[in-house]
Amino acid sequence: MTAARPRVWVSQPLFDDIVDQLAAHCDVDAVATVTEHTPAAVAAALREADGALITLNERIGATELAAAPQLRAIANVGVGYNNLDIAALDAREVIATNTPDVLTETTADLGFALLMAAARRITESERWLRDGQWQQWSFSTMLGADIHGSTLGILGMGRIGQGIARRGHHGFGMNVLYHNRSRLPEAVERQVGARYAGFDELLAQVDHLVLVLPYSAANHHIIDAAALAKMKPTATLVNIARGGLVDELALADALANGRLAAAGLDVYEGEPAVRPELLALRNVVLTPHIGSASLATRRAMVLLAVDNLAAALGVGPHAGHPPTPVTARKTSIAITGTAGAGKTATGTITDITGAGKTATGVITDIAGAGKSATGKR
Ligand code: GLV
Repeated sequence: MTAARPRVWVSQPLFDDIVDQLAAHCDVDAVATVTEHTPAAVAAALREADGALITLNERIGATELAAAPQLRAIANVGVGYNNLDIAALDAREVIATNTPDVLTETTADLGFALLMAAARRITESERWLRDGQWQQWSFSTMLGADIHGSTLGILGMGRIGQGIARRGHHGFGMNVLYHNRSRLPEAVERQVGARYAGFDELLAQVDHLVLVLPYSAANHHIIDAAALAKMKPTATLVNIARGGLVDELALADALANGRLAAAGLDVYEGEPAVRPELLALRNVVLTPHIGSASLATRRAMVLLAVDNLAAALGVGPHAGHPPTPVTARKTSIAITGTAGAGKTATGTITDITGAGKTATGVITDIAGAGKSATGKR
């Protein structure tokens, strides 16, 4: 049997020249304009798809999977994947992938930019100047907080957190504290110049706190009114992870009432909607979820996602081995075999458990041309 070309859905316009690479192996249905897909539209788009290239805008859970019987792979263009129900994907043995590493430094840059803009009141100063309020130079105009030599806190010490630590320690001579589910090896701590602290110690000690931890239901509103009350009133809070980590109303209240000096936010709980309570404040810098948005990095993310998707569908240069999977199932099943009568055939299922392994199994749902096949161990 000649394996059918997988059908893939691309949920948003990305970079056409990169997405087009999928067409060498797959039939591609790419959405041409930026679209807010309803859950029903996502389910409809996945109905006949073997794979999908999606962004954080599209949520995929049990309902969407139930409508997508052929789906085998989801490539998320982004490092965070809280838009995916990983348990549901694992239950269906759908491979999901993300795009770590390629965006680390760009996102750490943005975290630092927000920290500096908030602490040194950059956007507030600019608005004030443009409003024509600068009548005379004065010694006390826009006094902010120092970055060099201050104490930087990082909540979530993955790759991006470590990038921020390196910038703070090596670039600005900051005293860097971090809190994380698990402590880093001492050699890594030394390399990035950071010291482990308990959560409460972190909150109490730092002059600037950057949130870089992956969002999950367990850390919803980890920065709430109680956490904010433990921070210095002169401190800056930066969130480049996910909006749901912060109780935004408590944050707006703290910023409005002098219990926190400033904030820099790139992510929001209801994005793209931003709470009016935040929009009304002068001491918060707001950017529209642009952490990884440099041209080079966004291209690298799409390239990695395309590689992941093709590989997870068993085609392309890394067939069977997506470079950056996040689900329990990390290899794809490439099927070769001969279709038998009716809808069942016996064939060879390769690459189930890793390099060099071959297994035989039952292949279901092999039909004629244009159909893909799924196999079971
Ligand atoms: C963006 O937020 C990402 O997770 O890559």
